[in-house]
Amino acid sequence: MLKLDNVSKLFNPGSPDEKIALLGIDLELKAGDFVTIIGSNGAGKSTLMNVISGVMKPDLGEARIEGNSISHLSEFQRARWIGRVFQDPMAGTAPHMTIEENLAMAYKRGQTRGLAFGVNAARRNVFREQLSRLGIGLENRLRAKVGLLSGGERQALSLLMATFTQPQILLLDEHTAALDPARADLITKLTESIVREMKLTTLMVTHNMEQAIRLGNRLIMMDKGSIILDIDETRKQDLTVERLLGEFEAISGQKLADDRMMLG
Ligand SMILES: Nc1ncnc2c1ncn2[C@@H]1O[C@H](COP(=O)(O)OP(=O)(O)OP(=O)(O)O)[C@@H](O)[C@H]1O
Ligand SMILES: [Mg+2]
Repeated sequence: MLKLDNVSKLFNPGSPDEKIALLGIDLELKAGDFVTIIGSNGAGKSTLMNVISGVMKPDLGEARIEGNSISHLSEFQRARWIGRVFQDPMAGTAPHMTIEENLAMAYKRGQTRGLAFGVNAARRNVFREQLSRLGIGLENRLRAKVGLLSGGERQALSLLMATFTQPQILLLDEHTAALDPARADLITKLTESIVREMKLTTLMVTHNMEQAIRLGNRLIMMDKGSIILDIDETRKQDLTVERLLGEFEAISGQKLADDRMMLG
Protein backbone atom coordinates (compact mmCIF):
# COMPACT_ATOMS: atom_id res chain seq x y z
CA MET A 1 0.00 0.00 0.00
CA LEU A 2 2.61 2.62 1.07
CA LYS A 3 6.12 1.99 -0.13
CA LEU A 4 9.21 4.10 0.43
CA ASP A 5 12.32 3.31 -1.55
CA ASN A 6 15.68 4.62 -0.49
CA VAL A 7 14.26 7.89 0.80
CA SER A 8 16.90 10.37 2.01
CA LYS A 9 16.72 13.92 3.23
CA LEU A 10 19.61 16.17 4.17
CA PHE A 11 19.13 19.64 5.63
CA ASN A 12 21.62 22.45 4.99
CA PRO A 13 23.91 20.28 2.84
CA GLY A 14 27.55 21.28 2.83
CA SER A 15 27.15 23.77 5.68
CA PRO A 16 28.41 23.34 9.25
CA ASP A 17 24.76 22.91 10.17
CA GLU A 18 24.30 19.90 7.89
CA LYS A 19 21.76 17.43 9.32
CA ILE A 20 20.98 13.98 8.03
CA ALA A 21 17.26 13.66 8.66
CA LEU A 22 16.56 10.52 6.60
CA LEU A 23 19.11 8.09 5.23
CA GLY A 24 18.06 5.47 2.71
CA ILE A 25 14.71 4.64 4.25
CA ASP A 26 13.01 1.55 2.81
CA LEU A 27 9.60 0.92 4.25
CA GLU A 28 6.62 -1.00 3.02
CA LEU A 29 3.23 -0.97 4.73
CA LYS A 30 0.41 -3.37 4.06
CA ALA A 31 -3.15 -2.10 3.98
CA GLY A 32 -4.45 -1.94 7.53
CA ASP A 33 -1.01 -1.92 9.17
CA PHE A 34 -0.85 0.15 12.33
CA VAL A 35 2.81 0.98 12.89
CA THR A 36 4.15 2.76 15.94
CA ILE A 37 7.41 4.71 15.59
CA ILE A 38 9.82 5.59 18.37
CA GLY A 39 13.29 7.13 18.41
CA SER A 40 15.51 9.78 19.92
CA ASN A 41 14.98 13.49 19.35
CA GLY A 42 16.15 14.35 15.87
CA ALA A 43 15.97 10.73 14.67
CA GLY A 44 13.96 11.78 11.62
CA LYS A 45 10.44 10.72 12.67
CA SER A 46 8.71 13.99 11.82
CA THR A 47 10.74 14.34 8.63
CA LEU A 48 9.51 10.91 7.58
CA MET A 49 5.93 12.11 8.07
CA ASN A 50 6.71 15.34 6.21
CA VAL A 51 8.08 13.43 3.25
CA ILE A 52 5.07 11.12 3.12
CA SER A 53 2.54 13.93 3.42
CA GLY A 54 4.36 16.11 0.87
CA VAL A 55 5.36 18.94 3.21
CA MET A 56 8.88 18.45 1.87
CA LYS A 57 10.44 16.55 -0.99
CA PRO A 58 13.13 13.98 -0.33
CA ASP A 59 16.55 14.55 -1.93
CA LEU A 60 16.62 10.95 -3.04
CA GLY A 61 14.18 8.09 -3.30
CA GLU A 62 10.52 7.73 -3.93
CA ALA A 63 7.22 7.24 -2.15
CA ARG A 64 4.40 5.20 -3.69
CA ILE A 65 0.83 4.55 -2.72
CA GLU A 66 -0.69 1.42 -4.25
CA GLY A 67 2.22 1.27 -6.66
CA ASN A 68 1.77 4.82 -7.94
CA SER A 69 4.48 7.35 -7.31
CA ILE A 70 3.24 10.30 -5.29
CA SER A 71 6.50 12.23 -5.59
CA HIS A 72 5.06 14.79 -8.02
CA LEU A 73 1.99 15.50 -5.88
CA SER A 74 1.83 18.53 -3.60
CA GLU A 75 0.83 18.36 0.04
CA PHE A 76 -2.57 19.70 -0.94
CA GLN A 77 -3.06 17.04 -3.62
CA ARG A 78 -2.03 14.27 -1.24
CA ALA A 79 -4.43 15.52 1.43
CA ARG A 80 -7.24 13.54 -0.12
CA TRP A 81 -5.40 10.29 0.64
CA ILE A 82 -3.38 11.24 3.65
CA GLY A 83 -4.81 12.37 6.99
CA ARG A 84 -2.51 13.86 9.58
CA VAL A 85 -2.66 14.92 13.23
CA PHE A 86 0.19 16.93 14.71
CA GLN A 87 1.56 17.27 18.21
CA ASP A 88 0.37 20.86 18.52
CA PRO A 89 -3.40 21.03 19.12
CA MET A 90 -3.35 24.42 17.36
CA ALA A 91 -1.97 22.94 14.14
CA GLY A 92 -4.78 20.83 12.76
CA THR A 93 -7.74 23.17 12.98
CA ALA A 94 -8.69 26.76 12.11
CA PRO A 95 -9.28 28.59 15.43
CA HIS A 96 -11.42 31.42 14.09
CA MET A 97 -13.82 29.07 12.37
CA THR A 98 -16.59 27.12 14.06
CA ILE A 99 -16.55 23.37 14.62
CA GLU A 100 -18.94 22.81 11.73
CA GLU A 101 -16.95 25.07 9.41
CA ASN A 102 -13.79 23.13 10.26
CA LEU A 103 -15.55 19.86 9.54
CA ALA A 104 -16.89 21.21 6.24
CA MET A 105 -13.34 22.14 5.33
CA ALA A 106 -12.11 18.64 6.20
CA TYR A 107 -14.89 17.19 4.13
CA LYS A 108 -13.64 19.11 1.09
CA ARG A 109 -10.00 18.32 1.73
CA GLY A 110 -7.89 17.85 -1.34
CA GLN A 111 -10.66 18.93 -3.70
CA THR A 112 -9.98 21.91 -5.89
CA ARG A 113 -13.56 22.74 -6.79
CA GLY A 114 -16.14 24.47 -4.69
CA LEU A 115 -14.06 26.12 -2.04
CA ALA A 116 -17.15 27.43 -0.27
CA PHE A 117 -17.29 25.38 2.90
CA GLY A 118 -21.05 25.27 2.93
CA VAL A 119 -22.92 23.66 5.81
CA ASN A 120 -26.46 22.59 5.03
CA ALA A 121 -28.93 20.76 7.27
CA ALA A 122 -28.09 17.30 5.92
CA ARG A 123 -24.38 17.87 6.30
CA ARG A 124 -24.92 19.27 9.78
CA ASN A 125 -26.62 16.03 10.80
CA VAL A 126 -23.69 14.01 9.52
CA PHE A 127 -21.31 16.23 11.46
CA ARG A 128 -23.38 15.88 14.62
CA GLU A 129 -23.42 12.12 14.28
CA GLN A 130 -19.65 11.97 13.69
CA LEU A 131 -18.91 14.29 16.60
CA SER A 132 -21.07 12.27 18.97
CA ARG A 133 -18.80 9.27 18.31
CA LEU A 134 -16.06 11.19 20.11
CA GLY A 135 -18.15 11.06 23.26
CA ILE A 136 -17.15 14.49 24.59
CA GLY A 137 -20.25 16.54 23.76
CA LEU A 138 -18.87 18.42 20.75
CA GLU A 139 -22.03 17.52 18.82
CA ASN A 140 -23.84 20.16 20.89
CA ARG A 141 -21.31 22.86 20.07
CA LEU A 142 -21.33 22.91 16.27
CA ARG A 143 -21.20 26.70 16.14
CA ALA A 144 -18.55 27.19 18.79
CA LYS A 145 -15.29 28.68 17.58
CA VAL A 146 -12.58 26.03 17.61
CA GLY A 147 -10.16 28.45 19.29
CA LEU A 148 -12.29 28.18 22.42
CA LEU A 149 -11.88 24.41 22.74
CA SER A 150 -9.42 22.76 25.13
CA GLY A 151 -6.33 21.05 23.75
CA GLY A 152 -7.89 17.61 24.14
CA GLU A 153 -11.10 18.67 22.45
CA ARG A 154 -9.12 20.14 19.58
CA GLN A 155 -7.08 16.98 19.16
CA ALA A 156 -10.26 14.90 19.14
CA LEU A 157 -11.65 17.20 16.45
CA SER A 158 -8.35 17.07 14.52
CA LEU A 159 -8.49 13.28 14.62
CA LEU A 160 -12.03 13.28 13.32
CA MET A 161 -11.10 15.77 10.58
CA ALA A 162 -8.04 13.78 9.56
CA THR A 163 -10.08 10.60 9.18
CA PHE A 164 -13.31 12.07 7.91
CA THR A 165 -12.80 11.09 4.30
CA GLN A 166 -11.39 7.61 5.05
CA PRO A 167 -7.79 8.41 4.10
CA GLN A 168 -5.53 5.71 2.69
CA ILE A 169 -2.96 6.62 5.29
CA LEU A 170 -3.22 8.24 8.69
CA LEU A 171 -0.12 9.98 10.07
CA LEU A 172 -0.02 10.76 13.78
CA ASP A 173 2.99 12.70 15.04
CA GLU A 174 3.04 12.56 18.86
CA HIS A 175 -0.53 13.75 18.75
CA THR A 176 -1.07 13.18 22.46
CA ALA A 177 2.24 14.62 23.69
CA ALA A 178 0.92 18.10 24.49
CA LEU A 179 -2.01 16.83 26.55
CA ASP A 180 -2.38 16.02 30.23
CA PRO A 181 -2.49 12.28 31.00
CA ALA A 182 -6.29 12.00 31.16
CA ARG A 183 -6.79 13.80 27.84
CA ALA A 184 -3.93 11.90 26.25
CA ASP A 185 -5.60 8.69 27.32
CA LEU A 186 -8.89 9.80 25.81
CA ILE A 187 -7.26 10.66 22.49
CA THR A 188 -5.36 7.36 22.47
CA LYS A 189 -8.60 5.43 22.99
CA LEU A 190 -10.33 7.43 20.25
CA THR A 191 -7.39 6.75 17.95
CA GLU A 192 -7.56 3.04 18.62
CA SER A 193 -11.28 2.84 17.92
CA ILE A 194 -11.22 5.01 14.79
CA VAL A 195 -8.24 3.13 13.33
CA ARG A 196 -9.89 -0.20 14.10
CA GLU A 197 -13.34 0.72 12.79
CA MET A 198 -12.07 2.34 9.60
CA LYS A 199 -9.24 -0.20 9.17
CA LEU A 200 -6.86 2.69 8.51
CA THR A 201 -3.26 2.16 7.54
CA THR A 202 -1.58 4.18 10.25
CA LEU A 203 1.86 5.47 11.19
CA MET A 204 1.99 6.80 14.75
CA VAL A 205 5.02 8.49 16.29
CA THR A 206 4.90 8.28 20.06
CA HIS A 207 7.24 9.03 22.93
CA ASN A 208 5.29 6.65 25.12
CA MET A 209 7.14 3.32 25.10
CA GLU A 210 4.35 1.33 26.69
CA GLN A 211 1.92 2.68 24.10
CA ALA A 212 4.31 1.97 21.24
CA ILE A 213 4.39 -1.65 22.35
CA ARG A 214 0.71 -2.06 23.11
CA LEU A 215 -0.79 -0.35 20.05
CA GLY A 216 -0.67 -1.52 16.48
CA ASN A 217 0.80 -4.55 14.76
CA ARG A 218 4.33 -3.38 14.10
CA LEU A 219 6.93 -1.22 15.85
CA ILE A 220 9.70 0.73 14.19
CA MET A 221 12.60 2.39 15.91
CA MET A 222 14.53 5.17 14.20
CA ASP A 223 17.94 6.60 14.94
CA LYS A 224 19.97 9.19 13.00
CA GLY A 225 17.72 8.99 9.97
CA SER A 226 17.63 5.21 9.73
CA ILE A 227 15.26 2.47 10.77
CA ILE A 228 17.31 0.46 13.23
CA LEU A 229 14.64 -1.91 14.50
CA ASP A 230 11.50 -3.23 12.84
CA ILE A 231 9.47 -5.49 15.08
CA ASP A 232 6.57 -7.52 13.72
CA GLU A 233 3.36 -8.46 15.47
CA THR A 234 4.54 -11.79 16.85
CA ARG A 235 7.75 -10.40 18.32
CA LYS A 236 5.92 -7.34 19.56
CA GLN A 237 3.62 -9.45 21.70
CA ASP A 238 6.26 -10.38 24.23
CA LEU A 239 8.19 -7.14 24.10
CA THR A 240 8.67 -5.08 27.27
CA VAL A 241 9.83 -1.49 27.72
CA GLU A 242 13.08 -2.74 29.30
CA ARG A 243 13.77 -5.08 26.42
CA LEU A 244 13.01 -2.38 23.88
CA LEU A 245 15.36 0.13 25.52
CA GLY A 246 17.97 -2.61 25.81
CA GLU A 247 17.71 -3.36 22.09
CA PHE A 248 18.09 0.32 21.28
CA GLU A 249 21.25 0.59 23.37
CA ALA A 250 22.69 -2.59 21.92
CA ILE A 251 22.19 -1.39 18.34
CA SER A 252 22.96 2.32 18.64
CA GLY A 253 25.49 2.18 21.46
CA GLN A 254 23.60 4.95 23.24
CA LYS A 255 20.68 5.41 25.55
CA LEU A 256 17.42 6.41 23.92
CA ALA A 257 17.21 10.17 24.40
CA ASP A 258 13.75 11.60 23.96
CA ASP A 259 12.94 14.65 26.02
CA ARG A 260 9.29 13.67 26.06
CA MET A 261 9.90 9.98 26.71
CA MET A 262 7.43 8.18 28.91
CA LEU A 263 8.01 4.62 29.93
CA GLY A 264 4.41 3.78 30.57
N1 LIG B 1 13.23 22.31 8.40
C1 LIG B 1 14.40 21.88 8.88
N2 LIG B 1 15.53 22.56 8.65
C2 LIG B 1 16.72 22.13 9.10
N3 LIG B 1 16.88 21.01 9.83
C3 LIG B 1 15.78 20.29 10.11
C4 LIG B 1 14.49 20.69 9.66
N4 LIG B 1 13.58 19.76 10.09
C5 LIG B 1 14.29 18.86 10.76
N5 LIG B 1 15.62 19.15 10.78
C6 LIG B 1 16.67 18.35 11.40
O1 LIG B 1 16.55 17.03 10.89
C7 LIG B 1 16.75 16.08 11.92
C8 LIG B 1 15.51 15.22 12.07
O2 LIG B 1 14.46 16.01 12.62
P1 LIG B 1 13.00 15.47 12.93
O3 LIG B 1 12.17 16.63 13.28
O4 LIG B 1 12.57 14.62 11.80
O5 LIG B 1 13.26 14.55 14.21
P2 LIG B 1 12.24 13.80 15.16
O6 LIG B 1 12.65 12.36 15.17
O7 LIG B 1 10.85 14.11 14.78
O8 LIG B 1 12.60 14.42 16.59
P3 LIG B 1 11.67 14.79 17.85
O9 LIG B 1 11.53 13.53 18.64
O10 LIG B 1 12.48 15.81 18.59
O11 LIG B 1 10.37 15.32 17.34
C9 LIG B 1 17.13 16.87 13.15
O12 LIG B 1 18.52 16.93 13.23
C10 LIG B 1 16.54 18.24 12.89
O13 LIG B 1 17.26 19.23 13.55
MG1 LIG C 1 9.27 15.07 15.71
